[in-house]
Amino acid sequence: MDFSEKDREYVAKLVRQQSSNTGRPASVTQMHLQLKPIVHDSGARNVSELMKMLRTAPPANLHRVVAEAMTIKETSFFRDVAPFKLLEDRLIPELIVRRRAERRLRLWSAASSTGQEAYSLAILLRDRFQELEDWDVQIFGTDISQLACEYARSGRYSRLEINRGLPVRLLLRYFERDGEEWRVCDELRRLVTFERANLCEPPPRGLRSYGMQFDLVLLRNVLLYFAPEDRSQVLHETCARMHPGAALLLGNAEQAEDFSDLFQVEFDKNCYFYRPVSVR
Ligand SMILES: C[S@@+](CC[C@H](N)C(=O)[O-])C[C@H]1O[C@@H](n2cnc3c(N)ncnc32)[C@H](O)[C@@H]1O
Repeated sequence: MDFSEKDREYVAKLVRQQSSNTGRPASVTQMHLQLKPIVHDSGARNVSELMKMLRTAPPANLHRVVAEAMTIKETSFFRDVAPFKLLEDRLIPELIVRRRAERRLRLWSAASSTGQEAYSLAILLRDRFQELEDWDVQIFGTDISQLACEYARSGRYSRLEINRGLPVRLLLRYFERDGEEWRVCDELRRLVTFERANLCEPPPRGLRSYGMQFDLVLLRNVLLYFAPEDRSQVLHETCARMHPGAALLLGNAEQAEDFSDLFQVEFDKNCYFYRPVSVR
C-alpha cells in the first residue's frame, strides 16, 4: 500500500508538532523505510493500519516515536572537514588557554544524531591535545531521537559508516573490530554522554546538571529544518548556555547573522563561527 497525499500531510504535521521540523517526507519510499520498523513494534499489520492507529487511538508515545523516526539523521565522522580544522588550529587551543585555571571543558554536540560528530570531537581532543588527558572534559551529545541516542551510546559503526570520513590511522587507534562492525574504544566512550533532548523544549536533567554552560557548541545541520521562530528560540536558548568566550558552530547552510544581538560572527579556516555578544 502506498501512502496517500493526505497521509504524507498528516505525518508532516505530526513531525512539525513533535519536533518542530518543517518540510514533508522526501518520498513515499523514504517514508516506508523510516516507518517500517514502527509498524512492527506498534503491533500494526501494515502501514495503512499504522496510519489508522495514529489518527484514531494511538498508544502512548506513538506520535513521538513516528516523529523521531522521520527526522533526517544524515551525519558522518569529521563532517565537512573545515570545522574540525578550525577546532584543531584555533578554537581548542584558545579554550585550553582560557580554561587553564579550572582545567575543565564542557562541549555540546546538539543534534548529535548517531554520534559521529561527538566521537569526532573526542578523537580530535585525544589525538591532538594530549595536555587535556588529566583535565575534566565532558562531551555531551543530545538528539530528539531516542533510537539515534541509543545507537550513539552503543558506539558501534558499520564499515560503510566508518568509511565516511574516518582516516584509517584514527580507526586503528580509537576503534576495536567486532565482527562486521567497529566499536569506539572505552577511552573515548568515557568522554562522551548521549541523552535524548528536544532543542525546542526545556533542557533534560543531564544538561541542567552541567549548569548548562558550555565552552563549545556544535549545532550543525539541524536549524535548517526549523521555522524562523523556532530557529530564533533555539539560538536564544543556546546562547544562554554558553560561557562568555565560548564558540558556536553551525552547519554550512546555516547562519546566525540575523542574531547580532546574541552573537558576533567570526570567520576563519573557511568557516563562520559565533561567540556570545556579552564578551565584546
Ligand atoms: C542532519 S542530522 C545532523 C547531525 C550532526 N549534527 C551533523 O551535522 O552531522 C540532524 C539531527 O537533528 C535531530 N533533530 C531534529 N529536530 C530536533 C529537535 N527538535 N531537537 C533535537 N534534535 C533534533 C535529528 O534527529 C537528527 O539526528
